[in-house]
Amino acid sequence: MDKKIIIGSDHAAFELKEKIKDLLIGLGYEIEDVGTHGIASVNYPDFGKKVAGAVSDGTFERGILLCGTGIGMTMQANRFKGVRAALCADILSARLSRQHNDANILVMGGRMVGDILAFEVVREWLATPFDGGRHLDRIRSLDDLG
Ligand code: RB5
Repeated sequence: MDKKIIIGSDHAAFELKEKIKDLLIGLGYEIEDVGTHGIASVNYPDFGKKVAGAVSDGTFERGILLCGTGIGMTMQANRFKGVRAALCADILSARLSRQHNDANILVMGGRMVGDILAFEVVREWLATPFDGGRHLDRIRSLDDLG
């Protein structure tokens, strides 16, 4: 896998974003951080669109999005063609979102998970490959709204 990743958050998860960036750097990733860059209140869709757009157009293979609950970012990201954003608050969901859904954006809620759990979710998500096989037609079907 490409060791480049794009990350974004709103104010509610700014601090978690900074910590996850440190983790990613330690894992050897090159990071594109689209913001936000502080704790001033912002609107999560502005950052969700930047990350999801860059994954949708192929500029990045993988992204991470963070907001207070993770719900708004997930809603935003999954409006983009080719984006499979998974909201994860546990390690099994992170693993299965890769194995079965080939999730290309990991979403977490900074107000919902502690730092240690968030780091483990990131590690698991990055390390787990897509199973392919029977799951391939299913994920292809996601973008087929006809
Ligand atoms: C911001 O207060 C909060 O609404 C946002 O971070 C997120 O939880 C939205 O889904």
